[in-house]
Amino acid sequence: MSKSIAGFSKLSKSKKIDWIVDTYFSNAESAKNILKQYWNNDEKLQQLHDEFIENTITNYYLPLGVAPNFLINDKLFTIPMAIEESSVVAAASKAAKFWLDRGGFRTKVISTTKIGQVHFKYSGDTNKLKKFFNTVKPKLIEDSVDITKNMNKRGGGIIDIELRDKTTDLKNYYQLHASFETLDAMGANFINSCLEQFAKTLKAEALVFDLFTDDEKQIDIIMSILSNYVPDCLVRAEVSCKIEDLKENNSISGEAFANKFIEAVKIAEVEPYRAVTHNKGVMNGIDAVILATGNDFRAVEAGVHAYASREGKYSSLSHAKIEDGIFTFWIEIPLALGTVGGLTGLHPLVKLSLEMLHKPSAKELMQIVAVAGLAQNFAALRSLTTTGIQQGHMKMHLMNILNQFEASDAEKEILTTYFKSNTISHTAVSEALNNLRTSG
Ligand code: MEV
Repeated sequence: MSKSIAGFSKLSKSKKIDWIVDTYFSNAESAKNILKQYWNNDEKLQQLHDEFIENTITNYYLPLGVAPNFLINDKLFTIPMAIEESSVVAAASKAAKFWLDRGGFRTKVISTTKIGQVHFKYSGDTNKLKKFFNTVKPKLIEDSVDITKNMNKRGGGIIDIELRDKTTDLKNYYQLHASFETLDAMGANFINSCLEQFAKTLKAEALVFDLFTDDEKQIDIIMSILSNYVPDCLVRAEVSCKIEDLKENNSISGEAFANKFIEAVKIAEVEPYRAVTHNKGVMNGIDAVILATGNDFRAVEAGVHAYASREGKYSSLSHAKIEDGIFTFWIEIPLALGTVGGLTGLHPLVKLSLEMLHKPSAKELMQIVAVAGLAQNFAALRSLTTTGIQQGHMKMHLMNILNQFEASDAEKEILTTYFKSNTISHTAVSEALNNLRTSG
């Protein structure tokens, strides 16, 4: 039986570990050793990681890989990717190389507006609320000046604040719906601080607004928070080439490939079961770069999937067409990213990843991330519509299976060669390893 504990967060790291291993593990010493194995020898670096969150007991590693040869708007990039799934970096690198020989990726930031809302309840006359809002709007902006002055100096800040009547959805429910430009910052703290100030001003000014009755003066603030739905913080990435140039080696003709590829995209456009997996492939690329660059992948995931459902039905994030003999494959995706603030100046690997990407602005990072998503999607659809996905997946998964069986370096070398021409499965690897071990 587990037990509860009071004041856990106040214990020292070593006391926390003692409690965890004594409570949950039959072999407490072995559990403790595993946790300690992942500590960094550099105490300062370890402390930095300890302080990212509460109750840190160790570090959780993900591989940081790189996918080179990404030509984006005629500039070459090597893209850092933090991800555990074996085939993702290999697929990205393959797609990058494929398009490197065909003109590379073209990208464009369409918009960069972010949204935040103050949600509140008001039970009085709507017209009076509208009058009140128009009167108070300049003061909402004025009272936030301490928060906004630096952002304003750099050319960002509050774009607009609207009053939205949501009473047909929920009784007495209204919003301040505000839009922001946060430049190179993801902007969550900036937006939330502005919103909390708007809420304070709104509440205080209502108390002294002449037209309100005593009841109407009592605006009930429910919450103030940014939205991770950012359909107006949008980036486009595309690849295109003559259909005959899609042919590689002795594979199917460019035209046959293009047609099949477009059918696969159309299926994801109309069929939600397929669209979710199709978009998961896109997110393999996107999340990996977002993690490597210290951005918030949960925020991006939530926003991207809401965007994929914006027409009322979940659909593909990417699209493809042939026009005048040219194959074009593109994605438009909402991405609220930052290259300053948050982890970006703190985590040494994030700093390194950003430097590897030529220290991008948030707009440039949006373009790189969108490319990673498109490339990943291209690689998946290319495999799915030609060889099938398992060939590449299992090739990359072979090392995981060999590690599960604790294969030695010599065994790995022999079996990697053997499985170049034999079908990989868990059983086949187990048998081949057994044969090798009994024959040796
Ligand atoms: C696996 O992580 C991603 C794929 O399933 C994506 C897709 O089906 O398009 C291969």
